Amino acid sequence: MESTAGRWWAPGRVNLIGEHTDYNDGYVLPMALPLGVTCTAAAGPGGVVRLRSRQAPGDSVDTTTAALGTGGWSEFPAWSRYPLGVVREFERRGHKVSGVHLDLDGTVPIGAGLSSSAALSCSVAIALRDLFAPTTTDTELIDIARTAENVYAGVPTGTLDQSASLLCTPGHLLFLDTRTGAAEQIPFDLAAFGLTLLIIDTGTPHRLVNSDYAARRAECAAAAAQLGVPALRDIPFAAEADRLTDPLLRRRARHVITENARVLQIAEQLRTGADPRTIAPLLTAAHQSLRDDFEVSSPPLNIAVETALTAGAHGARMTGAGFGGSILALTDRDDTPTIVTAIRESFAAKGFPPPRDYTVTPSAGAHRLPGPNVV
Ligand code: GLA
Repeated sequence: MESTAGRWWAPGRVNLIGEHTDYNDGYVLPMALPLGVTCTAAAGPGGVVRLRSRQAPGDSVDTTTAALGTGGWSEFPAWSRYPLGVVREFERRGHKVSGVHLDLDGTVPIGAGLSSSAALSCSVAIALRDLFAPTTTDTELIDIARTAENVYAGVPTGTLDQSASLLCTPGHLLFLDTRTGAAEQIPFDLAAFGLTLLIIDTGTPHRLVNSDYAARRAECAAAAAQLGVPALRDIPFAAEADRLTDPLLRRRARHVITENARVLQIAEQLRTGADPRTIAPLLTAAHQSLRDDFEVSSPPLNIAVETALTAGAHGARMTGAGFGGSILALTDRDDTPTIVTAIRESFAAKGFPPPRDYTVTPSAGAHRLPGPNVV
């Protein structure tokens, strides 16, 4: 890049609890990861959009803002539709992009359920905000990044990932009401209690596009319609799901209703400074609900959770959309190496690929990085 206007960072996220609740207008409780995407960006002339990614060196894109407005997206590599979608959304909403060079470099494992795509979209969104539309609010940025994923990348996500990447703060969980957008930062200091949040990436990637994710959304919408409410968030008690005659819709609704209740309960316990060990049974209950009622778990995720619990984790669950990806486990710090070893051994015994492990603390949300400002 000939001229450097700056560097921006947006993280991936891990969702402590509140899975498949966001597109049901419900509650989520994610935190930002220390893994993310760095976007080096510079404004340029002539509507020229130049896109490079360190993770896809053979897949660069050179186009223009005018071309982005006239279709022809099928020729763009899949990964590039997220950043290009962000550029297009700024323009479509009336924020003129004179032209931009974007160089991207990411550390979030792809397909691990840790929101590599939101890190990508959000790093570009905050860069474009600072370069071209500085009054853009966080709410609009979340909507721009989500629209990039839904419309241009074709992945029908809710707002969990983009909200987490943009709004999380170090040392905190983000308690978010996805209907109202009301957000609260809840302190989450596991080290003070001798605890660790362990993430195991099973190395069996999920694929959100063309997956069962869209089917789950449709099932939830059907269940809400049959129960006569705008969204499943409006149903407070799981017993009400029994009014659904279709057993599959009943199970889907039961997951969402009980999951919202678990988020509220965990938020309440942590808000009052309780020992995080007290939330652990709710994490494990969430896994059972995702496995049995929502049916988005997988054999490697189940084995990882079961092994973690047997080896001494206080609670464990799959995290993210499911169908593969990662689990999280709440473990005593001193037990973490034993638990990782146990999971490695059980994966080897089952013939699963070797898992990757991370211990994570709540990290910073998207922000501009210090550095050169040469134009
Ligand atoms: C993916 C989606 C989110 C959310 C989760 C499941 O991460 O991008 O919007 O629905 O799955 O909680």
